[in-house]
Amino acid sequence: MSAVQSTKHDAAGHEAEPALDVAAVADFVRRREAEGVTLKSAVLEHAALSRGLTVRRWDETLLTVEVEGEVLPFVNMNGPSASVASRAFCDQKQLTSACLERAGLSVASSRAFGLDQQRDAIAFAHGIGAPVVVKPNSAARGRGVTLDIHDLDGLWRAWRVAAKIVAKRPGGRVIVEQYVVGDDYRCFVVGDRVVAATRRVRASVVGNGRDSVARLIAVKNRVRAKNPYLFRYPIPDELHELDALRHAGLDLEHVPPPGQRVTLRGTSNLATGGDNVDVMDVMHPSFQEVAVRAVRAIPGMAYGGVDLLARDISAAAEPTNHVVSEVEYAPGPGPLFPVEGTPRDVGGAVLAFYLARVGGARPA
Ligand SMILES: Nc1ncnc2c1ncn2[C@@H]1O[C@H](COP(=O)(O)OP(=O)(O)O)[C@@H](O)[C@H]1O
Ligand SMILES: [Mg+2]
Repeated sequence: MSAVQSTKHDAAGHEAEPALDVAAVADFVRRREAEGVTLKSAVLEHAALSRGLTVRRWDETLLTVEVEGEVLPFVNMNGPSASVASRAFCDQKQLTSACLERAGLSVASSRAFGLDQQRDAIAFAHGIGAPVVVKPNSAARGRGVTLDIHDLDGLWRAWRVAAKIVAKRPGGRVIVEQYVVGDDYRCFVVGDRVVAATRRVRASVVGNGRDSVARLIAVKNRVRAKNPYLFRYPIPDELHELDALRHAGLDLEHVPPPGQRVTLRGTSNLATGGDNVDVMDVMHPSFQEVAVRAVRAIPGMAYGGVDLLARDISAAAEPTNHVVSEVEYAPGPGPLFPVEGTPRDVGGAVLAFYLARVGGARPA
């Protein structure tokens, strides 16, 4: 890895935002990742270099950008104003919900329980009514999350799955939450702006009337392997990991009819095989407002990923037609490489946010 990339920043510093060249970003991050640099850090580095700024790389995630005598530090894509405290709020789902609720945003009814509070958890689940969700208070990428639980048996199985993860952390808790029907959206918020919005489609395949689900997964994984973001998250090809396929009474040998989409998993994380589809231009401005308010609701937060569960994001946001399900402290640059739709320059947007604060002169 080269220690210093030194392209001088023009002193006037008012050059136009460079046009996004996704192929160039993809090529750059691939080379950097081969040197051990993280994708997020490589994306930020590319944004800085393409603006002619002086960049110094300190390690695989840590980078400084020099501009007008100031040194802006970034860990991955989290810059100078990203606070450790805001990360603590995001890392515990229970605290995130509390902040969101205080700010008047819609959240799913939920409560966190210690591992010795199973009875209370059952009583709470009865109180909110089926279906419910069980998940670790503090985990990511869909790990330990069980959705759409309808009975006590299911609740116990889900509890054990979450408890396994929770038990590794002192004071770890399990969350029982109301299951919310809707599509899953990720908004990438920078300052007071949504710079990207994607629908996260649960891991799925589309039938052609000839191939089995197993074969369709293999073919789809070959396509995912070419995506700079998704290649690290292939769709699993074992039935025990494909909860939605099982719940539909299907298996890997099933041959779906032409054009039929078969959902394989309940969670829509890209890390669990989901697809990201750009929806920036169809998202109603009121949903963008919700996302900006959600980031502001977390103390010390300047940018982040906001997850929404909603039936229709092209309609106006009402308290009853969506929930804010999560706020991510360090969202991945998935919107740069959507499976469908327009790529969005999230790295450039984060960098521009900080450049606008240098000397107070630069437009965001
Ligand atoms: N209350 C809920 N209702 C419906 N789906 C949910 C609910 N909570 C989580 N999910 C689904 O499960 C996924 C993972 O849950 P999440 O709480 O975001 O955990 P993680 O931090 O692991 O991503 C979400 O992206 C969403 O698709
Ligand atoms: Mg999530």
